[in-house]
Amino acid sequence: MGLVGFFKSVFGICNTPRLPTEYWRRDGEKVFFRLSDAPELKGPDGAVYPAGAGLEAPVLVVNAGDQGFVAFRDKCAHMGRKLDPVAGQSQIRCCSLGKSTYDLSGEKVSGPAKGPITDYPVEFRDGELFITVSA
Ligand code: FES
Repeated sequence: MGLVGFFKSVFGICNTPRLPTEYWRRDGEKVFFRLSDAPELKGPDGAVYPAGAGLEAPVLVVNAGDQGFVAFRDKCAHMGRKLDPVAGQSQIRCCSLGKSTYDLSGEKVSGPAKGPITDYPVEFRDGELFITVSA
């Protein structure tokens, strides 16, 4: 890990970009946006996170390749730091020094977290992703 990586870990700074508020909407329990407005999601391991606008927590949305799109409450189960997908490993990892790691169903694989992260159902239809954030 280089110096920049070290400081990013100390402060829990992830690589996943925020999806600008003007590109997503919320209707009750659903957060939705057009895939064309999130080009980061076009390839496997790409990710974005909608946040703010009344959401209780950021929502990490990941292109999991053959497994489709997955989404999680973007807070590590250890101390609430944000999360990134791990390229090529079908895993989600905390951006802090603890690096708790989870599988694509949110179950903990390694690290100091005591339990899973919350995963959210995702539907993809007519070019739009719909994430149910209350599940
Ligand atoms: S906050 Fe994620 S491992 Fe500590």
